[in-house]
Amino acid sequence: MAKIDINDVYLEYDSGSGRQAALDGVSFSVGEGEFVSVIGSSGCGKSTLLGLLAGLMPPSGGEILIDGDRVTGTGKDRSVVFQHYSLFPWMSARGNIVFALKQQGRNGCKPSALREKADRYLGLVGLADAARKFPRELSGGMQQRVAIARALALDSPMLLMDEPFGAIDAKNRAGLQELLLDLWDCGDGRKTVVFVTHDIDEAIFLSDKIVVMSSGPGRVKEEIPVPFPRPREREGIVRTAAYAALRNRIVLLFYDDLAKAIGGEEVVI
Ligand SMILES: Nc1ncnc2c1ncn2[C@@H]1O[C@H](COP(=O)(O)OP(=O)(O)OP(=O)(O)O)[C@@H](O)[C@H]1O
Ligand SMILES: [Mg+2]
Repeated sequence: MAKIDINDVYLEYDSGSGRQAALDGVSFSVGEGEFVSVIGSSGCGKSTLLGLLAGLMPPSGGEILIDGDRVTGTGKDRSVVFQHYSLFPWMSARGNIVFALKQQGRNGCKPSALREKADRYLGLVGLADAARKFPRELSGGMQQRVAIARALALDSPMLLMDEPFGAIDAKNRAGLQELLLDLWDCGDGRKTVVFVTHDIDEAIFLSDKIVVMSSGPGRVKEEIPVPFPRPREREGIVRTAAYAALRNRIVLLFYDDLAKAIGGEEVVI
């Protein structure tokens, strides 16, 4: 049985001028301990899908199962990094993480242990000096790193990440990708990860499988397994013919979607 089963999910929003479908017939599975990236053009429903997986809203049709049970709300088994960081502005970086740990039920831990854990994860994302700073004192990329530290500190079996490295520069981004893989693969078993990104190289480096979505409304266009064994060495895999072929395939899927969006010819792959 898969860890996550997304079965024929349909989601419509009230757009003001009527109901509009954001997702239509989305189905795919994520195995226990699998790292799955979701990519697709802006507006194709990636954040909507992540919101459904997080249990923030129910689908209008279809179902999402975790360990065979229908998702009916949020759960401590899932940590989420939202696209827009969502830090509490009145709490310091450390305070935001400590609050999340308390919400998770770690009230029994000594406050000093929670603070130490928060600071440890802030250190891991390169923000050791920012523990006492408030979100307004941090850049967008720094706030995003606090949100990543918060999700990782919760150490949940499932991680749902919505463009978590989108606002982060290339050097820090590479370091965070490696940190994420280290934490994904430590402990008793690998975490189950659903990771939204626009970055094809990031998706290939991180994932076991890439789900490419098309828009208008969002559908799964293709599920592409990533064949490279782990641990992966970035410089090693990018030089291979298999990497170039995989990357080209994904790029062409994107162009195909773009061509349709602007009314052009479908690209033959
Ligand atoms: N709360 C909402 N109310 C109405 N429509 C919404 C709402 N949230 C999203 N939508 C619409 O649903 C569609 C999918 O939006 P979503 O945010 O899931 O896309 P996305 O793939 O995450 O895009 P991006 O890559 O830009 O983050 C879009 O057409 C968007 O306008
Ligand atoms: Mg989004």
